[in-house]
Amino acid sequence: MINETLDEIRKKALEAIGQASDPDRLNDIRVSVLGKKGELTGILKSMKDVAPEDRPRIGQLVNDTRAEIEKVLDEQKQKFEAAILDAKLKSEAIDVTLPSKPLPVGHKHPNTIALEEVERIFIGMGYEVVGGPEIERDYYNFKALNIPDDHPARDEQDTFYISGQFLLRTQTSSAQVHEMEKGKLPIKMISPGRVFRADEVDATHSPSFHQVEGLVIDENITFADLKGTLAEFSKKLFGELTETKFRPHHFPFTEPSAEMDVSCFKCGGKGCRFCKGSGWIEILGCGMVHPNVLRMSGIDSKKYKGFAFGVGLERIALLKYEIDDMRLLYENDIRFLEQF
Ligand code: DAH
Repeated sequence: MINETLDEIRKKALEAIGQASDPDRLNDIRVSVLGKKGELTGILKSMKDVAPEDRPRIGQLVNDTRAEIEKVLDEQKQKFEAAILDAKLKSEAIDVTLPSKPLPVGHKHPNTIALEEVERIFIGMGYEVVGGPEIERDYYNFKALNIPDDHPARDEQDTFYISGQFLLRTQTSSAQVHEMEKGKLPIKMISPGRVFRADEVDATHSPSFHQVEGLVIDENITFADLKGTLAEFSKKLFGELTETKFRPHHFPFTEPSAEMDVSCFKCGGKGCRFCKGSGWIEILGCGMVHPNVLRMSGIDSKKYKGFAFGVGLERIALLKYEIDDMRLLYENDIRFLEQF
């Protein structure tokens, strides 16, 4: 009797396993046949009705049946798992022969391009590039540059004061003082950096912009050295045909002082919209370092002379790349930056 029942359970189970279409169904079969309340477990419970001498044989039979069903269940389960894995691998397959997508590459900011070019030119002439602090004492930004407390130039450069004697530098000229104070002569340096002025934002103004300061101090330096150096710089920056013109001007830290114009590189000096018809474009301020400035920084103004200049970096970038609004340089609109 039990023999036949066992055989029937076995057949039914194997058939169901053969027809199962997924692992969940296999699990149902496992529970309904081998589980606590399963058919096979039920047989074990009815062993008490079996004659004692038959019990070992029947027990063995039940165990064999159980082992067989378990084995087939496991095999089937492994088949399902292999099929699932296979499908997953197929869906995740990577075609390594496909060409890669281009990676976006950043662009240099026009200011950076202009700065690198200015640096390259001066380094080529034997200049050293030095930095300087953006937060300055009044002394470095004004006093040591021969701009006393009541000097009107302080108004021209509307200053962001921090507290007490501290301010945001209005000009990179303060870097000159730091360099002279080091006490090492001769000096031949440029110092690029950020400067700050309480200006409203418009097409030609910004509360923060960049300058490149230049300073040369040695024995026997004359205005001719200044002119020769800046003429050479202009040719390298704007082209070999570029001419330069020096107009008298006033800066407290230089005497004499000048502003330098370059011939318009757009029209060659004939006059065009770019140079507002004049043929010339103003480019920088310069002059011979004032003896007071040398003396305040501990340099013997009898023995040493120097020249200095200050150029606006944005101005160069705007001119070179024909950008007509300074705000474009600060908005970081990717459509603008991508053009460089
Ligand atoms: N610091 C001046 C400015 O911000 C520019 C300048 C003019 C710098 C003449 C100099 C110089 O070193 O000699 O307008």
